[in-house]
Amino acid sequence: AAIYREGVFGRRPVVPTSPSALEHAARRRMSRRAYAYVAGSAGQERTAQANVDAFERWQIVPRMLRDVSTPDVGLDLFGDHLPAPLLLAPIGVLEMAHHEADLAVGRAAASLGLPAILSSQASRPMEQVADAMGTTPHWFQLYWSNNDDLAQSFVQRAEASGASALVVTLDTHSLGWRTRDLDLAFLPFAHGLGIAQYTSDPVFADLVAQRVASGSRADGHQPRPTPAAVRALVSMARHYPGDDSLTTRLRSPLPRAAVETFLDVFSRPSLTWRDLGWLRDQTTLPIVLKGIQHPDDAAQALDAGVDGLVVSNHGGRQVDDAIGSLDALPGVVDRVDGRVPVLFDSGVRSGADVFVALALGATAVCLGRPWVYGLALAGERGVRTVLQHVAAELELTMALAGCASLADVDRRAVTPAGRDR
Ligand code: FNR
Repeated sequence: AAIYREGVFGRRPVVPTSPSALEHAARRRMSRRAYAYVAGSAGQERTAQANVDAFERWQIVPRMLRDVSTPDVGLDLFGDHLPAPLLLAPIGVLEMAHHEADLAVGRAAASLGLPAILSSQASRPMEQVADAMGTTPHWFQLYWSNNDDLAQSFVQRAEASGASALVVTLDTHSLGWRTRDLDLAFLPFAHGLGIAQYTSDPVFADLVAQRVASGSRADGHQPRPTPAAVRALVSMARHYPGDDSLTTRLRSPLPRAAVETFLDVFSRPSLTWRDLGWLRDQTTLPIVLKGIQHPDDAAQALDAGVDGLVVSNHGGRQVDDAIGSLDALPGVVDRVDGRVPVLFDSGVRSGADVFVALALGATAVCLGRPWVYGLALAGERGVRTVLQHVAAELELTMALAGCASLADVDRRAVTPAGRDR
């Protein structure tokens, strides 16, 4: 209501309310490489498109005269109360969008009480972001390293920094065929971007030290960054003149050994369902598997005793020509049958989209690219404003559709597009 009132009295929002206008504005603000990295997906980007198109196949059926004067959009999840069924999806390499990166995002999320899922590929260590978020819950997203000690260290740090849940992303044991990045010859991690979680880790520091000690250079000097890395950093520093972290990094670039070590230990493509037992022994945190699309995988996850799922295809960044994530949701929800929370992401652009995902059985929804565009445009305020817009539209849509609480947002509230009722 406050957003509407300000609009009516002539104050324009900090960032556009229209999802396409928001992306368009961010595109003009961001460097070519940064925009390509955020907006880009795998292959011909058909899955990214399918994610968005899938929402057009469902329509909301508004109901009338159902006292919606006090809409209730809150819910309890893994012991925390959320003011809305919204979380911030884990997104890496945010220093490409804004120099305050994860800190701005954490503060924005905390100002609204919404949990943020901190990425393994963050630009700031999880401890700093957890501090910035105060009492607002945060979760940690794990890329499962092929080095047990490093994986264990990440899990221990997540617990020590007060994470409420551990999200294990399964769909990215290798990076997808990201055509925009390939054509720009750009892999952020190879430039030392998005590896703060690693460079702040004691186990990782040991691994780098071992690499340097046994290293290719006999003289013991730290290897210099590649000319391509320097060029990329210079162009980004120019783009964001106030960016301390980038200019500092220019003066004392990360040793190439750290980057190479990261590339060596980033993931474990050999993972199987059996390995989940090891993780269960490492932590008492709820374990949530991200990247589930097939009902049989959901069933296996339940057998493995996990505590939650995220139906997601990584925003179409991994497998091109894969199904739209929303198309996968009802089958997974039916198979899980209420035994654990089923979160959803990939393709959510608006509050109305959130409503549809909830109606199809999602417990809560993770928002991705839209808030990154807000970050690029206006830092912390931009992220907060995007989140407010989505939450406000959700609340309004619920009320106008005759839903007084989340319990009312069920499959009867939607219908396949174009079908008679
Ligand atoms: C991601 N995503 C992601 N997921 C994850 O588990 N760890 C990560 O580090 C990242 N990093 C990341 C960077 C960028 C630039 C994007 C766009 C996405 C995937 C993310 O959590 C989520 O699944 C998608 O963003 C959902 O798709 P949409 O709705 O943003 O298109």
